[in-house]
Amino acid sequence: MSTVPTISTGAVTRKKMTTLGFRQKKERGEPITMLTAYDYPTALAIDNAGIDSILVGDSLGMVVLGYENTLPVTMEEMLHHSRAVSRGAKHALLVGDMPFMSYQVSVEDATRNAGRFLQQGGMDAVKLEGGRERVDAIRAITGSGIPVMGHLGLTPQSVHQLGGFRAQGKTASAAKRLVEDALLLEEAGCFSIVLESVPARLAELISQKLSIPTIGIGAGTGCDGQVLVTHDLLGLFDRFTPKFVKKYANFHAEMNKAFSDYIEDVETKRFPAQEHSVEMDDKEWESLVKGL
Ligand code: KIV
Repeated sequence: MSTVPTISTGAVTRKKMTTLGFRQKKERGEPITMLTAYDYPTALAIDNAGIDSILVGDSLGMVVLGYENTLPVTMEEMLHHSRAVSRGAKHALLVGDMPFMSYQVSVEDATRNAGRFLQQGGMDAVKLEGGRERVDAIRAITGSGIPVMGHLGLTPQSVHQLGGFRAQGKTASAAKRLVEDALLLEEAGCFSIVLESVPARLAELISQKLSIPTIGIGAGTGCDGQVLVTHDLLGLFDRFTPKFVKKYANFHAEMNKAFSDYIEDVETKRFPAQEHSVEMDDKEWESLVKGL
């Protein structure tokens, strides 16, 4: 008998996705789907659409909180948004992104903060950035029973060290280092690895070498799954759209139009109309007027 919880939503019964489910999808050659979410309504919509996994990414800092990069994001901010997402998504595997300086200082800090994502944030797993230098932290976190997703290639928390948001692994020696890092992360216990902005054939090679699934973002078609920042996919982030994003909507323009229409309606007294107003019974009205 399966021990994986099933969740009934009306007519459809869907299994809760697990890290084991991730591995099985790779084995069956089925692409894994993942998107970011930071709030309840978006998580609900993504989950209802049938996604495998939701990442509460620290991209939150840029696309929701308006910071220049992901570095200012705190544990408290991540937990606040993780809780909202966990209230909306009941089927997807929920992954909380460990923010800058929540896992780099010590293995103890890393383990304690990873635990907070599960205890206080309602997450099922955590993600952290980096290669060989993170092996000790990953061993300690997975040793506590917390699933860890790795993140290699363009690791935005190292933006200053990398010299900007730029593709990684483009030379033979940098690519070799990435292959080695991926193998080390698998050995340390990661259940999956995000590969961001690396050449497509390198991502494919890494995906073939690993038995855990790779999730690509700007890494071509050879990964075992794909992730995008939802605000990029929806056209909600106004500042820039990375080259690898496919925009499925233009919500920023839609929002602008809706807000301008509202302002115009109020200014021209087209809103509120009769149907938006509360009526008062004639008798009650007359009695009020007489009594004044
Ligand atoms: O923070 C994030 O959204 C991410 C994805 C880009 C993988 O790390």
